Amino acid sequence: MKIVVVQGPNLNMLGIREQNIYGPMKLEQIHAQMKSFADENGLEIEFFQSNLEGEIVDKIQECYGDADGIIINPAAYTHTSVAIRDAISAVALPTIEVHISNVARREEFRQKNLIAAVCSSSVVGFGPFGYHLAMVGMTQILNEIKAIKEQQAAQQPAQ
Ligand code: DQA
Repeated sequence: MKIVVVQGPNLNMLGIREQNIYGPMKLEQIHAQMKSFADENGLEIEFFQSNLEGEIVDKIQECYGDADGIIINPAAYTHTSVAIRDAISAVALPTIEVHISNVARREEFRQKNLIAAVCSSSVVGFGPFGYHLAMVGMTQILNEIKAIKEQQAAQQPAQ
């Protein structure tokens, strides 16, 4: 089972940008923790960060036929990007949206979210720990899908 982690604009600046909101952890440290969880649970994991909307759309499209699930923090594009929303809809993979900060408590312009409605679920406001929660959630979703497929296969009449 393969999970692709997609990180949007300015998340490469974690540890530097607005530490009062996003904390001191760097993106590499978050990814190292996710990789440990993936290894412990026998999951393949790939990390991708881009500041460009089109590159994020391309990466989501590449997940089709390649990945079993997506964990995405679209960052500022959460509030603006129909293209990223459509890409998530198009590939139709289990997708968990993560926001480090509690966007509900922030500026008015962050209250619009174009992404949440096409995701399986959202993890918001737990700081970097939200990525770990997303890994636990994705593991659960993938296990449930696996169990359903196994059950369906067992019900198929022998050919
Ligand atoms: C963010 C919230 C967004 O509003 C913001 O533009 C980000 C990060 C978060 O993780 O809290 O860049 O997605």
